[in-house]
Amino acid sequence: MNPRTARRVLIALWLAVALAPAATLSRHPYLQNVRPDRATVMWTTLEPGGGAVEYSADRKSWLTAAARIRQFAPAETGLPADFYQYEAELRGLTPGTQYSYRVLVNGRVLAEDEGMRFRTPGPGPFQFLVFGDSGVGSPEQARLARLIEAERPALVLHVGDVAQGAGSFNEYEDYYFPFYRELMKRAPFFPAPGNHDYLTRNAAAYFAVHALPAEAVPEPDRGRYYSFDWGNVHFVSLDTNLPFSEALRAGGPMLEWLERDLAQTRQFWRVAWFHHPPYSSGFHQGAAIRADLRARLIPILERHRVQVVFHGHEHSYQRTLPLRDGAPAQDQGTVYITTGGGGAALYPFRPHPLMAFGEMTHHYVRAEVAGARMTLRAIRIDGQEIDRVTLAPAPSLSDTPVVNAASFTPRLAPGAVVSIFGESLAGEERVAESLPLPQDLGGVSVTFNDQPAPLFYVSNSQINAQLAFETSGLALLRVNTPNGSAEAVVLMTGTAPAVFTVPAASGRQAAVVHATTGGLVTREAPAAPGEFVTVYLTGLGRVDGAVAAGQAAPRLLARAPVTVLVGGATVQPQYAGLAPGLAGVCQVNFQVPEGLAGGLYPLVITADGVASEPVELAVQGASAVSLPRPLGAKRDP
Ligand SMILES: [Fe+2]
Repeated sequence: MNPRTARRVLIALWLAVALAPAATLSRHPYLQNVRPDRATVMWTTLEPGGGAVEYSADRKSWLTAAARIRQFAPAETGLPADFYQYEAELRGLTPGTQYSYRVLVNGRVLAEDEGMRFRTPGPGPFQFLVFGDSGVGSPEQARLARLIEAERPALVLHVGDVAQGAGSFNEYEDYYFPFYRELMKRAPFFPAPGNHDYLTRNAAAYFAVHALPAEAVPEPDRGRYYSFDWGNVHFVSLDTNLPFSEALRAGGPMLEWLERDLAQTRQFWRVAWFHHPPYSSGFHQGAAIRADLRARLIPILERHRVQVVFHGHEHSYQRTLPLRDGAPAQDQGTVYITTGGGGAALYPFRPHPLMAFGEMTHHYVRAEVAGARMTLRAIRIDGQEIDRVTLAPAPSLSDTPVVNAASFTPRLAPGAVVSIFGESLAGEERVAESLPLPQDLGGVSVTFNDQPAPLFYVSNSQINAQLAFETSGLALLRVNTPNGSAEAVVLMTGTAPAVFTVPAASGRQAAVVHATTGGLVTREAPAAPGEFVTVYLTGLGRVDGAVAAGQAAPRLLARAPVTVLVGGATVQPQYAGLAPGLAGVCQVNFQVPEGLAGGLYPLVITADGVASEPVELAVQGASAVSLPRPLGAKRDP
């Protein structure tokens, strides 16, 4: 482009911006669906235009996300004039990072201020707020909104009746966005629909003004129910409307989705919310929905160890004792909190045997999550804390609490890497970063017969540790957490060889490598006859020399006699012992027999006569031997 043309283009662009009509902001920008890697910003104007959001983590370099625009006409909304709603999705965000953003229409900045910043979810403590039954425009709603505005939550849960009248567009414009405007621009609201939100046909306004997580939700139901993770919490929002009997139909899409969703989460905390309360007393206690909730929904939540459930509908604050199957729990229970005092007129209630605390008052709930502890506080409209409970789920162990980390069978040998399975084991996932391995990871420790076991990894449901070389026979396992201990008796054997598997392009692959290159032996890169290969495994038992578990191992031979079986033929290993520089890992070096025909062979390591499960060894050559894949589905150690 020559300079004259370039100048003309610049002038044309400048004129296009200068002449583009200014748009009038009618609903201030607000956040939706903030996630570790993305966030949505929404707003409305009275005139159509081209919308965009600029966002930055350092306020120096800015990225731009174009907005989708949707026109709303009076016939649809009941409002006097058209308006235009913009929705921009910010992608490629970094977890645990603060972002600033500003909103543009037709190239002009329409909204930008210091408050327009948010933090993506990441590890570490955070707070969230919960309230509901708010959307009436009462002085109490306004006063609570001012209190809430002074809070610093990462996110807000709304338990429904966001618009407490007819669920209409004008109620959202009058009684939702203006009240929480300052908070909504820095913390996303995650709602559940209430019965009033559904008073407008198919909750049209509720669905229109929110952009909610959609992953794994059947297409027709997107927006009605959803889940997402924030830090170490799995959040689940449900729709108990439409009508109740359909929403809570056994085998219906929502409950099927819920079963799958909760079965998949590995988070320490599981928090659910929906509008209708299953246990609270008051104005609605005779409603048929309570029986449906208790019969169909509550058993799923309790089976998957949801620790706390929020709801509204009763305009009061009520907290139950920890419950299981409708009665006070003997061990771990679920706490049900009614938080329906967000602004609408209050309902009286009577105390009942399942209730731990209740008050007929306007309020909201603040939850503080810190690892394996969650503190819930009810804050009254006068700013006073009226109720506080700290949840600290104690650990529990699975029926088969310890398995070999390579074979996932309960055969355990001294010095081996093991996986311990249970629930509520560690508040947050942690990985040991260097050797020697720590004996405490995030406040979690493990002992066998009071001997500390060095730790590789801890999470809610799994711990990977190394057994001491001195452990033998029956051993008392104890998992210690900030919330208490769990114990089980386990049996050690002398040897329990099991070959590790590692992820590979063609699926999980046995950890057998070419000795010269260190590359994996695969069907695509088979071992040559006469070549030396190395097998990585665990469970060869005691060794000929002194080494403490958790330390980087020296070269030490296994005491047990070790043999290698390739396709049924016995091969004496060149080396069988600890893998130098690693903890808990053994290695066996052997030479693939000269003259072995090409094909796939079962490879078995035996130690003191105890055989490992066979793994596949691919050997170079023209012919191929058919072999069923011996590697079952296993979890990553
Ligand atoms: Fe309600």
